[in-house]
Amino acid sequence: MKVFIVYCHPSEDSFTSCVRDAFISGLKDAGHEYIVSDLYKMDFKTDMTEAEYLRDTYYRNTPAPADDVLAEQAKINASDVIVFIYPVFWSEAPAKLVGWFDRVWTYGFAYGEKTMKTLEKGLILCSAGNPRERLEEFGILDSMKKVMLGDRLFGRVKQAEFVVFDNTSREYELREKNWEQHLKTAYEKGKNLLTHP
Ligand SMILES: Cc1cc2nc3c(=O)[nH]c(=O)nc-3n(C[C@H](O)[C@H](O)[C@H](O)COP(=O)(O)O)c2cc1C
Repeated sequence: MKVFIVYCHPSEDSFTSCVRDAFISGLKDAGHEYIVSDLYKMDFKTDMTEAEYLRDTYYRNTPAPADDVLAEQAKINASDVIVFIYPVFWSEAPAKLVGWFDRVWTYGFAYGEKTMKTLEKGLILCSAGNPRERLEEFGILDSMKKVMLGDRLFGRVKQAEFVVFDNTSREYELREKNWEQHLKTAYEKGKNLLTHP
């Protein structure tokens, strides 16, 4: 399988970077190919221009998307699986990843007369500082899942999976305690890519 990883974390001094590395180890051990868009390292531009806004909101195919957007779309259409790896920031993906969707999921590619390939799988691996119970208490976990799976990936992947690694805040001792188990899970998600839970 050809796997496209959209990675979004501002620092290598992070648990999330270890999730990325463990997942990639699993992919390699299973013989999958992969490419990574590291959105902060690429300094991916995430603010829409007015022209981009008008193009999408008027459901127009013109003007052509910008080169950086076309490059991301080409990576998607050359892949079988898309994977998003990021930390939860204020109960959402980081603004940089949200902006990636704003610009890359264009009219004529991700909606309208779609040219986006229907991928075999969409996988989300996100790390959350809070414990799962806290994320569930106000329906935050559910809302994050709904936005990613029910909106951004819906109709664009054949199979979708959302994995959250909780308790990863430096505030909690469980960060260290769960570290190995979480990374084992990330590795296995790469190794057994298409296995549904
Ligand atoms: C600006 C910011 C906002 C955050 N918001 C949340 C949040 O809403 N919910 C949560 O569970 N964790 C939140 N966190 C914690 C991150 O998800 C944290 O990065 C996570 O524990 C992953 O660890 P890592 O940064 O070492 O990869 C936030 C962190 C930052 C820096």
